[in-house]
Amino acid sequence: MKVLVGGGTGFIGRALTHLLHSRGHEVTVVSRQPGASRITWNELTHFGLPPCEAVVNLAGENILNPFRRWNEAYRKDLLSSRLDTTHKLATAIAKAVQPPQAWVLVTGIAYYQPSLTAEYDEDSPGGNFDFFSNLVSKWEAAAKLPGDATRQVVVRSGAVLGRGGGAISHMLLPFRLGLGGPIGSGRQFFPWIHIEDMSRILVHAIENSHVNGILNGVSPASSTTNAEFAKALGAALGRPAFLPLPSPAVQAIFGRERAVMLLEGQKVIPRRTLASGYQYVFPELGAALKQAVS
Ligand SMILES: NC(=O)c1ccc[n+]([C@@H]2O[C@H](COP(=O)([O-])OP(=O)(O)OC[C@H]3O[C@@H](n4cnc5c(N)ncnc54)[C@H](OP(=O)(O)O)[C@@H]3O)[C@@H](O)[C@H]2O)c1
Repeated sequence: MKVLVGGGTGFIGRALTHLLHSRGHEVTVVSRQPGASRITWNELTHFGLPPCEAVVNLAGENILNPFRRWNEAYRKDLLSSRLDTTHKLATAIAKAVQPPQAWVLVTGIAYYQPSLTAEYDEDSPGGNFDFFSNLVSKWEAAAKLPGDATRQVVVRSGAVLGRGGGAISHMLLPFRLGLGGPIGSGRQFFPWIHIEDMSRILVHAIENSHVNGILNGVSPASSTTNAEFAKALGAALGRPAFLPLPSPAVQAIFGRERAVMLLEGQKVIPRRTLASGYQYVFPELGAALKQAVS
């Protein structure tokens, strides 16, 4: 199968490309930079969709870059890098003479309102209470296609754990130095998924014609709290992890609005993902972290 992957140069995209190649698929990446086996976003707009059977979008400016100040310009970049790329791919799919079989978008579990008590599955309401939930709503709306010639899947992802990027890349140094610990109260839920499972769920969505609609991309161990996560990361590294990072420090680094992503959380269940027949490789946090930091 030929698969077109927007943002395929990134953390998830590299793992997905590797897995697709290992299964005999051909991958073309859509990137801001030209290169081998790539097209640029401008080429996509001008020449339309290259021949392919599946399209995935993973493009997006990094949300938790601690070196970027939380301001209007950053918020605009977060929105446009997701909405414009998704809209460009959806438009190209809609115009394609030979439409692909599958169109898969990765968004986030920020769609669901943080809570210490609620439990969310794919049918739960959300998407309308803060900057990030609104971002997910607009992002998923930008992916909508007019007809049903192409099967559509949206994977709402939790924090992706793996080597060389994602959620734990900024945490590793303090934890390795024995300076890690829970963030804020530590009671907030911390939905996570191993990168191997994220890539495999995307391939499952591409290859199986019965998979459609929203899938939560989180591990089935959905009740992990931030404090439990910190303890497990410390254990995987063989380091103590008792030093809490106080909420005001997180707010000072990330800005109040963005700090919510770290200080609050939601319990998310992958009900439809499991019902679609997906079997997790890393359902347990200890094994997932051990592999991710090895
Ligand atoms: N990693 C996670 O824990 C996680 C969790 C939930 C949701 N997600 C979502 O999943 C998607 C993929 O995540 P990831 O961790 O693989 O992302 P990533 O590595 O940070 O970035 C993916 C790619 O997006 C492109 N990109 C970056 N800034 C851009 C901009 N301003 N305009 C257009 N393209 C831009 C880059 O490709 P080029 O440089 O080649 O253009 C980059 O390689 C993202 O949309 C992310 O929000 C990720």
